Amino acid sequence: MDPAKLILDGNEYELPVVIGSEGEIGLDITKLRSASGAITLDPGYGGTGSCYSSITYINGEEGILRYRGYPIEQLAEKKRFVEVAYLLIYGDLPNETELDLFRHQLTHHSLIHEDMKKFFEGFPAEAHPMGVLSSMISSLSSYYPDSGNGEDIDLNIIRLLAKAKTIAAFSYKKSIGQPYVYPRNDLSYHADFLHMLYAVPAEEYVPPPAHEEALNMLLILHADHEQNCSTSTVRMVGSSQANLFASISAGVSALWGTLHGGANQKVIQMLQTILDDGADYRKYVDLAKDPNADFRLMGFGHRVYKNFDPRARILKGQADKVLGQMGVEDPLLDIARNLERIALEDDYFIERRLYPNVDFYSGIIYRAMGIPTNMFTVMFALGRLPGWIAQWKEMRDDPHGRIYRPRQIYMGETERSV
Ligand code: CMC
Repeated sequence: MDPAKLILDGNEYELPVVIGSEGEIGLDITKLRSASGAITLDPGYGGTGSCYSSITYINGEEGILRYRGYPIEQLAEKKRFVEVAYLLIYGDLPNETELDLFRHQLTHHSLIHEDMKKFFEGFPAEAHPMGVLSSMISSLSSYYPDSGNGEDIDLNIIRLLAKAKTIAAFSYKKSIGQPYVYPRNDLSYHADFLHMLYAVPAEEYVPPPAHEEALNMLLILHADHEQNCSTSTVRMVGSSQANLFASISAGVSALWGTLHGGANQKVIQMLQTILDDGADYRKYVDLAKDPNADFRLMGFGHRVYKNFDPRARILKGQADKVLGQMGVEDPLLDIARNLERIALEDDYFIERRLYPNVDFYSGIIYRAMGIPTNMFTVMFALGRLPGWIAQWKEMRDDPHGRIYRPRQIYMGETERSV
């Protein structure tokens, strides 16, 4: 494709065109500033590509999501989370030998250093588990320093994946005042997490297969989503050559916000408010449309999807089935369905192309599994770990990678004297 042409103040500049493997078009402006003195301005980066990537493809207009070329629907139906993690991080699905080794490594690195238990003791019981997770992931860098060589990095990737679920489960146990439950080597990744979450010393705990299956699907659906807020944070922090744990800890913090992963907790709180208020969902749709009300329909809308979020489509389909298998009836599911139906018929939502996103139905399934509401975003983080790691690794391995350093248009005072 011919270069794009930009005319600025009578001067013409050529901008090379880059075309992605799915035909996406990008204008390369890397030389624009040195040639013209001008920068591009795009608050929120809605029209800005920050990197080349071969990990995840999203087509927001058509509601397509693929990891390394595989449609999310196929992965969610046919694969285990550890296989998808391997796919994202190493580029291909593992063969049997690779998978056995990967599973073995994840199992045998799942203990955290005993001293780290003292950190949990320092947090107040009501500490939000996302704050605990972020701090504990950052503190892993003290135990497993990164000399920058590839072997250290590879081992730390395994350690992070293996230990994050132990940290997440310990933070929950701490919050309810129960003894920590150590990982078990005979359980799968998901089953082990559920065991550390729910087992108590007095009884034998066997994770219900329906819970294991639901967790597998949820983790896969959250595993990557290209350059979203938390992933861009991981890349930004990592671009200064900060270590893996520091970079991912920053990603956990970015995910915590209610416009991002924190929305899954807010969705349930919103549905509960509607239920307590007589289940008048129409009132809340009207409220979400009111420009003077500080209220949004949580779990609705997306920067990239202007069609159904394919993850929400899968979850909506699965919510009934999963709750049925678990023998759970949840009035919040009816409210969610009604809210969605009314919103999707409403001109405000139609014009703005606002659809349910991944957070709209995920919380209902977590609730049915008995996962407490303040752990929902931690569940999102556990799922997103392989994506963050893959993106961090891709950025580190990129020979053309540079430190992230956007510019600004200064709008403040011009020079003045004190
Ligand atoms: N309820 C009501 N109105 C909305 C909503 C909503 N959930 N989302 C967007 N809008 C309106 C918004 O008011 C604006 O209207 P107008 O053009 O009249 O000013 C228009 O739609 C465009 O919204 P925006 O805020 O410019 O869109 P964005 O791309 O900057 O924000 C979003 C995307 C996801 C932050 C936003 O849709 C939102 O706040 N949704 C609720 C929070 C949520 O569910 N977040 C989870 C996102 S998916 C999981 C993840 O990957 O993090």
